[in-house]
Formats: sequence, structure tokens, C-alpha cells
Amino acid sequence: MPQSLTTLLARRQPGYSLERAFYTDPDIYAQDLESIFYREWLYAIPACQLTKPGAYAQLQIGAYNIFLVKGSDGQIRAFHNSCRHRGSVICKARDGLVAKLVCPYHQWTYDLDGRLIWARDMGPDFDPSRFSLRPVHLRDLAGLIYICLADTPPDFDAFAEMARPYLAVHDLGRAKVAYSSRIIEKGNWKLVWENNRECYHCAGTHPALCRSFPLDPAVAGVAADGSVPPRLQAHFDKCEAAGAPSRFRMGGFAGQYRLARMPLQEKALSYTMDLKPAVRRPLGHVGVPDAGTLLKFHYPSTWNHFLPDISMTFRVTPIGPTETEVTTTWLVDKDAVEGVDYDLKRLTEVWIATNDEDREIVEANQQGINSPAYTPGPYSPVMEDGVEQFIDWYIRTMQRALPASAVAAE
Ligand code: FES
Ligand SMILES: [Fe+2]
Repeated sequence: MPQSLTTLLARRQPGYSLERAFYTDPDIYAQDLESIFYREWLYAIPACQLTKPGAYAQLQIGAYNIFLVKGSDGQIRAFHNSCRHRGSVICKARDGLVAKLVCPYHQWTYDLDGRLIWARDMGPDFDPSRFSLRPVHLRDLAGLIYICLADTPPDFDAFAEMARPYLAVHDLGRAKVAYSSRIIEKGNWKLVWENNRECYHCAGTHPALCRSFPLDPAVAGVAADGSVPPRLQAHFDKCEAAGAPSRFRMGGFAGQYRLARMPLQEKALSYTMDLKPAVRRPLGHVGVPDAGTLLKFHYPSTWNHFLPDISMTFRVTPIGPTETEVTTTWLVDKDAVEGVDYDLKRLTEVWIATNDEDREIVEANQQGINSPAYTPGPYSPVMEDGVEQFIDWYIRTMQRALPASAVAAE
């Protein structure tokens, strides 16, 4: 299989969508997990989601089931959700609150920091210190929790150093989760990303979003060569003069991540139907009310919007070759009171509608690709350079990860 994948990767036609197998084949899907999701840093949750010691959240990433839990010391840790006795899962619910981590099978009991503290009838020679829960690498980037399943994770610092000043003004340390939605899109994870990386579809698909989100590439776009239209440059300059880092920055292998604070439509201050802020008490201290949205993406797991009043995180998790979970979390200031400072429907309606519209087009895209009659088609050079950038990153990341023997055999 790696050899045929090598062939498929090598014969990818630049400027065109991928061949069908990349979106349908279970073996390529398995390789996507091995080469990307089991190796890269993945966005997991906002730190504020775990409100008190003992709060946990479970995540399934391919074959791995893990959970994140807040310790008595306030620190968040991640562990493989598999008991060190005979392997049962420990946390059964998607999220919850516990005093200790008690395995449901024979009640081996772990402290919130993963140490085994109680195991019945294991004999005098039993050494509990050898059976702590297996930890998962974790980093907290200004209130965004990332995890990595690899034994030796790739560098995280370059990304963290680039992102931290952009995120600082959004004060995620003061955030609370106002709402979280989890949807399943019946499409390959790459189709979910491709759809996210272009707004060629937006005018025909997203009536609510288009009230606030600009489509004109002269306002919204940074060209593939990194050149910035004058109106966009003026926006960056205005925000930066007010202390909010904004200009376009890209980094990582093959452009794995990007940051840029993009303007919204004229008069739009947030993603609301009336274009006014969604929350009266803003999260963060962005000094410019029309600063627009700080867009951050980090392949393969997350894109985000940080606005002067709210922040939103999106997590992309593949479930199968043609199925992907998208989790969206709306963050507001912890002192903002629902019904007083914000109305939940008004806060969430634009992106709940947008996510659902995107789900529909991704699913229709997948259905069409499932047909043997599908052949790769050309990207718009004006509107889809972001899709091409994502696909370039994917192809190069897969090629880099393939065993040298498979490449040499070509
Ligand atoms: S499998 Fe967990 S206590 Fe036995
Ligand atoms: Fe969309």
C-alpha cells in the first residue's frame, strides 16, 4: 500500500483536486491517521472547558481514546483512557466531574495526576508506582490546549511563539464556554478542510455569514505570494497601532499554520445577524471595535476566529474515511451573564447555520467523489489558492512521513 500511495502522491496534479482514493480509500485514511493525526500537535479543548479539579473531557482520535483532566493543582493533564490493570476505559462519558479516577472494572483508583493510589488484593510485592496512567503530551497555548500522540512530538515552540502575542489581547484566561456544538459531516476530513479554506462557495451557501464576512479578495485575501492588498494593509496597521498584532504570518512545515486579523464587512462588529457585538461584556481587550476576526488555522485539527467580543474554536477530528466530527466552541468573558450580557441564540445562530450549510455541501462533495466517474477538477486561481495551499501541505506532509524504503522503491 505505501508504494501505491507514493505513486498517487507523486502524480498529484498541481492546481487540481485530489484523486478519488484520497477521499474514499480506507488504507489511505489509515495512513492519514498514522502520518498526520498520530504525529502532529492537535488542538483539543479550550482550557476553560475544564472548570474545576476533576473535570474531564474525552477525545477519540483514530484508535486512541484519551482524556484530559484538571488536577487538584489546577493543571490540565492528558492520559490514555486505558487502565493499567487489564486495560478497561476509565472515563466512560464524553465529559464529567470526578473526585478520583476510578476504573469501572476492578476499581483501581488513580489520582487526578495519573498516579495509581489504590488497587485491591494485588499482593505484597505489588508496586503501584509502576502503574501510573500513561500520559499524553500536552501544551497550553494562551488557554488553548493542544495534545500530541507521538512518542516524540514535533516542535511546538515556533508556533506558540508566533501565536502567543496575537492571542494575548483575547485574554482566553478569562474565558468561559457559552456553548459548544458537535456535528458529524459525512465527508473525508480533507474535504472539510478544503471547504474551510475557500469562500468561493460562500455567496451561494451562507446567507447569514455573508452579512458580516467579506467575500471580496481585495479586502479579505492575502495572495499566495504573501502580497497584501492596500485596504487590508491599512486594516493591519490600524489594529497594530492599537496594540493588537494583526499582520499575516504563516509558518511551520509547508505552511502548517497561519495567523491574520481580517476585517469583516463594513459596519460588522461580530458574527451576528444585526452585525452588532454578540456580547455586551467583551472577552479580551482588543482596542479596535471593528478589528474583525483574528483567523488562525493549524493543520490538521483546528481553525479559529477571535473577535473583539468573543472567541470561537473549531476542532476537526476524522471518524472514518468518509466521516468527520466538527466541534465548535463559543467563548465569552467569564463574567458575561447569559440573558443579561448576551443572548445565546443571537450569539450562536450565524455559525450554527454556517456549520450546517458547510456540512451539507461537504456531504454532497463526498457523494459526488464516491462515483467512479469523478475526476480531479481545477481550482479557481482567484478564490481557491487556500485549498491548493492545504493540499500542498497534505501531500508534502504525507511524502515526508512515508518510510524511505517506499519512496526509494518508486
Ligand atoms: S481493568 Fe481497570 S481495574 Fe481492572
Ligand atoms: Fe462555508
